[in-house]
Amino acid sequence: MSSTLITHIGSLVTNDPGTGDDSILHVIKDAAVVIEGERYAWVGRAEDAPDADTVHDAEGRAGIPGFVDSHSHLVFAGDRTAEFNARMSGQPYAAGGIRTTVAATRAATDEELEANLARHIAEALRQGTTTIEVKSGYGLTTDDEVRALRIAGRHTEDVTYLGAHIVPPEYADDPASYVDLVTGEMLDACAPHARWVDVFCEKGAFDGDQARAILTAGMAQDLIPRVHANQLGYGPGVQLAVELGAASADHCTHLTDADVEALAQGTTVATLLPGAEFSTRAQWPDARRLLDAGVTVALSTDCNPGSSYTSSMPFCIALAVRDMGMTPDEALWAATAGGAAALRSSSEGRVTPGAHADLVLLDAPSHVHLAYRPGVPLVSDVWRHGRKCA
Ligand code: NIG
Ligand code: FE
Repeated sequence: MSSTLITHIGSLVTNDPGTGDDSILHVIKDAAVVIEGERYAWVGRAEDAPDADTVHDAEGRAGIPGFVDSHSHLVFAGDRTAEFNARMSGQPYAAGGIRTTVAATRAATDEELEANLARHIAEALRQGTTTIEVKSGYGLTTDDEVRALRIAGRHTEDVTYLGAHIVPPEYADDPASYVDLVTGEMLDACAPHARWVDVFCEKGAFDGDQARAILTAGMAQDLIPRVHANQLGYGPGVQLAVELGAASADHCTHLTDADVEALAQGTTVATLLPGAEFSTRAQWPDARRLLDAGVTVALSTDCNPGSSYTSSMPFCIALAVRDMGMTPDEALWAATAGGAAALRSSSEGRVTPGAHADLVLLDAPSHVHLAYRPGVPLVSDVWRHGRKCA
């Protein structure tokens, strides 16, 4: 197996408590890594590095683990520029906008959906995202949901069945029958193509009882739950997620003290999606409150054509630092190791021997520049599973 040495990394974020300084990011100064195949074989100080077949000189750039974007909705067609324009002129965001994308997605060919997905994943990769979760949820018929999951599965292992995104228009008068479909025939067809089950638990989408029925049905078919919870208002989503042992409760924008307490006691990661608050002009999730309570926090883009049309993890980091009370270190941890925790992955989000060699170099002296220089394309080199792809 051929090996690659990447050396003279000015400061390397490892997220590995077994090495580096004693910050939460465990940074090694003047670092190097050796990649063999898809994984790291060695990580340490440049002066101690072993020889390798090829050498890449990072010339002092900062190195970080590839971003782990644990929440996206990228199997879709069409765009919602008009809705964004209306919102920026004062209209509120409503989950009903999802119907526009459902109609466009149903009308698209497989080739169109796959090309659109591939284009967005490539866009994310250029910005340093090496792991991405992708949800269905814009098909909402059995065939259209299976098709979305199959297409997503060609691009990522983290495929999520979100048949319960909204009640589609043809079931508007009979939502109970739609829940029966999502927990019955649609689930049977979708479960073999997904790792996760998700539900949009929110007023205007699915209530707590419906969400519980949908998640438990998915769990009975070995899907692991994650929940869209407490985005637009207070509700039962977060506590349901914790009770069911969900991997993640996503959004967490409107939280009671009991919600925060439940997250702190449980194992569910709180995944915050500041792109959604940015694009809907909503209040920010309070990351500081969650961190101070001891909750594990992840950051993700929620990339979708309605509420958050950004694929940029650096942008989300900048928002989280500026507006959600996170330090630059906490935000980068949340966007890498936090995302890996939300996806229950031990081989992503860390730079350590044995982990996938997903490495990003920044045109910057340290990772802090991600928040300090918002909007600037600092990502200069990306390796994913040991392969240089940007
Ligand atoms: O996570 N909250 C539900 N789903 C998406 C919005 C999708 C859309 O507006 O198309 C979200 O924000
Ligand atoms: Fe979402």
